Amino acid sequence: PTLPPTPPQCPMASPLPTVRPNPFDPPTDLADHRGGEPIRPLAYPDGHTGWLVTGHALARSVLADPRFSAGSELKRAPVARPGADPFFGVPALPGWMVDMDPPAHTRVRRPLAGTFTAHRMKALRPRIEQLVDERLTAMADSRPPADLVERFALPVTSLAICELLGVPYGERAAFQRDSALLFSLDASAEDAALAMDRLDGFLRELTRSRRTRPGDDVLSMLVEDGTLSTEEIAGAGVLLLTAGHETTASSLALGTFALLSHPEQLAALKRDPALADNAVEELLRYLTIFHFGVPRTPLVDVELGGRLLRAGESVTVSLSAANRDPAKFADPDRLDLSRRTSGHLAFGHGIHQCLGRNLARIEMRVAFPALFRRFPDLALAVPPEEVPLAGDMGFYGVHRLPVTW
Ligand code: HEM
Repeated sequence: PTLPPTPPQCPMASPLPTVRPNPFDPPTDLADHRGGEPIRPLAYPDGHTGWLVTGHALARSVLADPRFSAGSELKRAPVARPGADPFFGVPALPGWMVDMDPPAHTRVRRPLAGTFTAHRMKALRPRIEQLVDERLTAMADSRPPADLVERFALPVTSLAICELLGVPYGERAAFQRDSALLFSLDASAEDAALAMDRLDGFLRELTRSRRTRPGDDVLSMLVEDGTLSTEEIAGAGVLLLTAGHETTASSLALGTFALLSHPEQLAALKRDPALADNAVEELLRYLTIFHFGVPRTPLVDVELGGRLLRAGESVTVSLSAANRDPAKFADPDRLDLSRRTSGHLAFGHGIHQCLGRNLARIEMRVAFPALFRRFPDLALAVPPEEVPLAGDMGFYGVHRLPVTW
């Protein structure tokens, strides 16, 4: 798309380039594969030097390799709030599995994986269709313009994860604000830690209430399963609740912006709604909202791509760069809804691969076609360069998407 470059958006220290050539492509230097070097040294915010992995094959192999730890006590993230390390500047909660290695990771993830099966997510589809339909009807009943984030993307994903977990949707004002604080790199480490504390307290109370009044939801199933303590269920619950709505909402809103900016691709999707499943995978690849990459640390010396990585060094795997690797995806900077996208790394890879990916997929597969069916003339209500981009959030996206119809 012929849009102007995005301004630098990261007030926090980041060694990664952050200026994107347009709202959809990763920062040019980050995803520059011309040198053919899939791994290179990277200077971290606190001054130490580690490694940046940008090649698809190498990224996959790091993420599948048990010699690389995801442990928070080891890893140093590629971004830091001023004065704070690691990434969120807040101590991980018990049950916060993203930061764990086996066997602790396996112990927490296993009972959860049992509740997030593809089968269970498929069974949720009719309910998601209903949620999407209700939000679209409410939007259609109002006068344009509207903010698609507030009116559609955020309510759909928040309602879905609330129902699944058993969190009252009426509490959304508080948990949406606290999730935004947690993922906003503009927020101070102290404010983020306070937000984490509030979310943790909220989930602990809900978990305790399930011990006396169980329901048909994930928190109750975890209580019933008996493997995890109340504190662990609450910590995992905070992760699921926050990651569970912010991420997919970002993908829906940014994905809509991308489709509106690629009219020929959008026309193909409107002509053939059967394209939706593949379109979702291509949007996930093309947009890769996990834009700061995944931090890992080798537990022993490892040779990788001709480099010697010493035990304890910091490694950042750039999912955005890997998903634009021409060795894996031909003409990678082109949004092509009909391309073969298998093997993209938008959900990560290996034992930490996104637990919510089947939920996210179903939400997106239902939401995009329904949105353009209901509003065939949907258009941006502001010039594209005025859409506020969320480069300052842990997940890339748009803060608002003003649309009209
Ligand atoms: C992990 C991306 C939606 C829950 C991850 C990871 C990525 C990711 C890249 C791997 C992190 C790592 O290796 O360190 C996304 C994207 C989403 C999305 C792009 C939406 C489009 C969701 C949803 C949920 C969720 C809807 C919850 C229902 C989780 C959890 C983990 C995770 C619990 C940690 C898994 C583990 O450490 O074993 N996600 N996610 N995500 N995601 Fe998602």
